[in-house]
Amino acid sequence: MECPEFFQLGEMMKYILIGFMGAGKTTIGSALAQKLHLPFYDMDQEIIRQTQCSVSAYFAKFGEPAFRKLELSVFESLLNKEGDMVISTGGGTVMSTEAQQLLAEYQVEVLWLNTDFETLYQRLAEDDVERPLFINNTKEDFKALFDQRLSTYESLANHQVDVTMQNQILQEVK
Ligand code: S3P
Repeated sequence: MECPEFFQLGEMMKYILIGFMGAGKTTIGSALAQKLHLPFYDMDQEIIRQTQCSVSAYFAKFGEPAFRKLELSVFESLLNKEGDMVISTGGGTVMSTEAQQLLAEYQVEVLWLNTDFETLYQRLAEDDVERPLFINNTKEDFKALFDQRLSTYESLANHQVDVTMQNQILQEVK
């Protein structure tokens, strides 16, 4: 069986996991970091650590534009850190042109974790993490956000990973 190219060690590299909410960026990012013996950073966790506030509480108190500003600065400071690492982004992190410029400036490998909308929706409905965009949108609007983001994820990705099976397994063993 052939290994995906991104498992090749040696080159200095930051691995950036992108994808919609519920795709499993945190779970897979942490496993990938372990496999590659690299430090792992989860963007939402970094934000929570810095603000001492949950993402949903931050959204409620300061609004989405303030969250996006903070998210971008956390992303930039992680990219600025010395050395290889695995970074799990939030689903909206790479949507801004500023974040996309950063991705182009740094030597990074972008892995897009992708699956179908219904799988993601189901997973989010059963997840304990409160996601403001999930809670505050109708299913129809949430699907529109998903559709709108797909082409951006696709254009930024060096690799696309179908995580449907992983999500099904997690569902079954719950
Ligand atoms: C968001 C995704 C969330 C979190 C915030 C906004 C988004 O992260 O950053 O709720 O805009 O897609 P996850 O993708 O880790 O759920």
